[in-house]
Amino acid sequence: MSHQEYPTDSPAVVTVGLPYANGDLHVGHLRGYVCGDAYARSLRRIGQQTAFVCGSDMHGTPIAVNAAKEGVSPEEFALEYHEKYEATFPKFNVDFDNYGHTHDETNTEMTKSFVRSWIDNDHVIEKEIQVAWDTEEDQPLPDRFVEGTCPYCGEHARGDECDEGCQRHLEPGEIENPVSTLTGNPAEYRTREHKFLKLSDFQEYLSGFLDRLEGTDNAKNQPREWVEGDLQDLCITRDMEWGIDYPDETDGDGGTTEEDLVLYVWVDAPIEYVSSTKQYTERVGADTYDWEQVWKDDGEIVHVIGRDIIQHHTVFWPAMLKGAAFNEPRSILATGFVNIDGKALSTSRNRAVWADEYLDTDFHPDLFRYYIVTGSGLEKDVDFSWDRFAERVNGELVGNLGNFVYRSLLFAQRNYDGTPDVEVSDDVRERIQQGIEAFEAAVNDYDLRGIGQVAIDLADYGNEYIQRNEPWKLTDDDPERAAQVIRDCVQLSKACAVLMQPVLPETAESLWTQFGEDGQIADAALEEALVAPPAEFDAPDELFSKVEDETVAELNETLRDRVETAAAESDNDTTDEGEDTNMDIEPLADERISFDDFEALDIRVGQIESAEPIEDSDKLVKLEVDIGHEVRQVVAGIQQLHDVDDLPGTKVVLLANMEKAELFGVESNGMVLAAGEEADLLTTHEDAPVGTKVR
Ligand code: 2FM
Ligand code: ZN
Repeated sequence: MSHQEYPTDSPAVVTVGLPYANGDLHVGHLRGYVCGDAYARSLRRIGQQTAFVCGSDMHGTPIAVNAAKEGVSPEEFALEYHEKYEATFPKFNVDFDNYGHTHDETNTEMTKSFVRSWIDNDHVIEKEIQVAWDTEEDQPLPDRFVEGTCPYCGEHARGDECDEGCQRHLEPGEIENPVSTLTGNPAEYRTREHKFLKLSDFQEYLSGFLDRLEGTDNAKNQPREWVEGDLQDLCITRDMEWGIDYPDETDGDGGTTEEDLVLYVWVDAPIEYVSSTKQYTERVGADTYDWEQVWKDDGEIVHVIGRDIIQHHTVFWPAMLKGAAFNEPRSILATGFVNIDGKALSTSRNRAVWADEYLDTDFHPDLFRYYIVTGSGLEKDVDFSWDRFAERVNGELVGNLGNFVYRSLLFAQRNYDGTPDVEVSDDVRERIQQGIEAFEAAVNDYDLRGIGQVAIDLADYGNEYIQRNEPWKLTDDDPERAAQVIRDCVQLSKACAVLMQPVLPETAESLWTQFGEDGQIADAALEEALVAPPAEFDAPDELFSKVEDETVAELNETLRDRVETAAAESDNDTTDEGEDTNMDIEPLADERISFDDFEALDIRVGQIESAEPIEDSDKLVKLEVDIGHEVRQVVAGIQQLHDVDDLPGTKVVLLANMEKAELFGVESNGMVLAAGEEADLLTTHEDAPVGTKVR
């Protein structure tokens, strides 16, 4: 089934992945919120009724652990961040119609009603499973309380997510070599009873859903292999106190709940999308915006997420909706990450640009919005650097868009008091019409960069037009022609205002005001781009301010100092801790293996012939490794830690008879050996030839 083009007659909702209420926001987070906001504004711009909603993700183990460390309740801890986020988003002109949180009453009730529907529809079963247990603390270790080895790709992983390798969601009990993050001790597995959503009930449905799904290619293609393979049931409960209680059959009107069994954070988090929309309806009334039509009938549901949570949104979430007889998402836009100066953003290494830090500069929020929305295609990573920021702002916004609008309006105001009293020329009218169509097409293609590009292209055209016609030379010799040229430029400027508004909302609004237009630009229809501005307007202000070299130098220095200080502190920590550092080393295995077992490992010296990053993964690299007898294709999780271009020629040590695996759709035939979290590649000390067996 193909969907009708936007704008449709049904209301739309745009959501963005909920931020965990667990730390400060940085530019990596902001990418999703700014893109979601720009897309919601773009839909409205073309006449689609749209709500933009989100909320804070209040549950889950990291929040419980961090609250305990600070000696406050998880609720108090999470609410503080929730309030901070709520205050921060508008400062980036990210204007949610509703911003709730997962622990509020609406979401608690909504979540319980979803679970009851699944129970009523026979989609929930109870199973005995192996749960990691800390024997010293005598407590279960849900999710991030446990770390170990991913059973699918062998990389180091967290309890519920293979964050360093294949990015799969991991079910309780799946992680191998479990170690408690509370005590650093090896965890033991104990039997517990838990509730499961039977994902296998939805296998056929999910396959059809992926056929219908719109959005970015990564979101449409990656889930295929998960949905076409065996779908494991999803464990929806956890042994914890912090979260929404699992409602048993008698819970509800004064009933009871299962003791100490809360819902998995990934159950109540996406349901907040629905709850937040409901809260919006409660504020504006169902006649204005009806959440039930959106979520239970024919609404256009658009999710903007990070590409690390594709599985949750393309497999678990549609099954959860279907199991409760709700509507399905129309599209999922999974964004790439934000790198800093060419390297992965890392909060632990303090290589990040923080939201507050940006707000402390004098830079307008729209500048950041423009940089991040148009910096790359939605699926790709964007590199944030202050140098590039300055280059793009000064070139594209100050030099092109701002310059065109300013010179046009200044000339118009000085010579004609405003809009010259002639019709727009056919060529310019047609060029604006093309811009409108390009904008509509980009909205339908979910092409955020394309959306942001339309006004820039119009300004480019305008600058070339004004330069070619030189109206300042015509005012005396050919006043009619001069008036025509300026009339055209004024209209192009107004069109720029209308078309830039989703990405640069505050700047567009101020241009609207400069024109002396009525109402708000957000409420103006797209066709306003072709309607004449008022006959008179005041002298214009510059739209954008130049980013000065000295400011960039200062910001670069601050970032560099911060990264160096963090590195030095982590070095000091290691030295200061002395013997304690052993605590961080994984415990030695108790179990001995025989020499025969060791001999069974076919370990060879190899040499990397080529290396290329795997698309959509920020960690994995595809290597061709010469091992003497043949050249092996191997996937290794080393992208962040090595410069991929430097890898060819490197001697490595490779386990040649490792089971084959497929990661991100790429076959891995062998495993290169590396030490620790930093994936320090093992090599040979002298020059053992490739193919030599390691004994
Ligand atoms: O990965 C995260 O940051 C989660 N807090 C996203 C939740 S999105 C959702 F609600 F589905
Ligand atoms: Zn994995």
